[in-house]
Amino acid sequence: MVSKRPFGTTSNGEDVYLYTLIAGQYRAAISTFGATLQAFHAPDANGSVNDVVLGYGSLEPYVRTTTYFGMTIGRFANRIAKGRFTIDGVDYQVETNDGGVNSLHGGRTGFSFRVWHAETFEVGGMPGLMLTLHSPDGDGGFPGAVTVATSYLLKDNGELVIDYEASTDKPTPFNMTNHSYFNLAGAAGGAVLDHEVCLACDRYLPVDAALIPTGECLPVVGTPFDFTTAKPIGRDIGTVGGKGYDHCFVLADERPILKEFARVEDPVSGRTLTVKTTKPAVQFYTGNFLDGSEDGKGGVRYGRHAGFCLETQFFPDGPNHRNFPDCILRPDQTYRHTTIYAFSTR
Ligand code: GLA
Repeated sequence: MVSKRPFGTTSNGEDVYLYTLIAGQYRAAISTFGATLQAFHAPDANGSVNDVVLGYGSLEPYVRTTTYFGMTIGRFANRIAKGRFTIDGVDYQVETNDGGVNSLHGGRTGFSFRVWHAETFEVGGMPGLMLTLHSPDGDGGFPGAVTVATSYLLKDNGELVIDYEASTDKPTPFNMTNHSYFNLAGAAGGAVLDHEVCLACDRYLPVDAALIPTGECLPVVGTPFDFTTAKPIGRDIGTVGGKGYDHCFVLADERPILKEFARVEDPVSGRTLTVKTTKPAVQFYTGNFLDGSEDGKGGVRYGRHAGFCLETQFFPDGPNHRNFPDCILRPDQTYRHTTIYAFSTR
């Protein structure tokens, strides 16, 4: 089942809608502004249904956000150092919206801040929403006109399947992700430090003070980045530098086939989340920049570590590192990416 309601109007007069997909006990609300997962309701081990993603109750905060709660990110998720890169001998400069120095999440005019065209669909009786966008040549400084489709499919077994497909008419860096912050205790549940996380990631990318990868790819073994056996998020968080985890973890198997790499469990509610992806890496981010200063849904103020993100993607700053997987989308290629967030209970 799908319902649709108005969700505000942008300053240039574009109407935004909120679609709600319902399948069994699960509900996913998706806004056409940023193709954003605005809410996700799932039962806990006792059958009590709660919203488990962070977000805002109206359009306005999404327009100015730097949290990217639930938003679809493109053209290039994560950072590009100094917003510069070279493709086939041509230099490009994109917007430097991260401290005025680096480019973050495709810039302030990136895919997260666009109103997407939406159409509902169904697969085997399960509800879906297909969102499409055209990004012109030179958009935010990026080369090539790009056509993008992002779809959400909700299944009554608790799976939210997100598919991305894109093509371009000139080579361009291309790296999409979803920026949901999860709190399996319920989005008003405080910090996620007790959530137990297991990641099938045997390496991670060390970063500099501006969170740009140094270019090394180091083994996690013997470091606070080792989640290969489950441990609480909070166990080593004080020793990773900065305010917590905000690092790219490399999947042990980098082949572009759909595989499960993450399992998270909230010991109190008994909710679990497993994640599968076709991408070679994931940014594990623990909401370090949340400081309780903004009103979230229902007036909730999200403090530091109020949610965790598993942003499946190519490596950050990929266009500037030859030893990182190739993240340039070329005209003879189609970008395809699938990530599945699967909710269940212990
Ligand atoms: C990503 C980045 C973080 C932060 C958030 C948005 O996860 O890696 O450093 O910028 O997005 O607040």
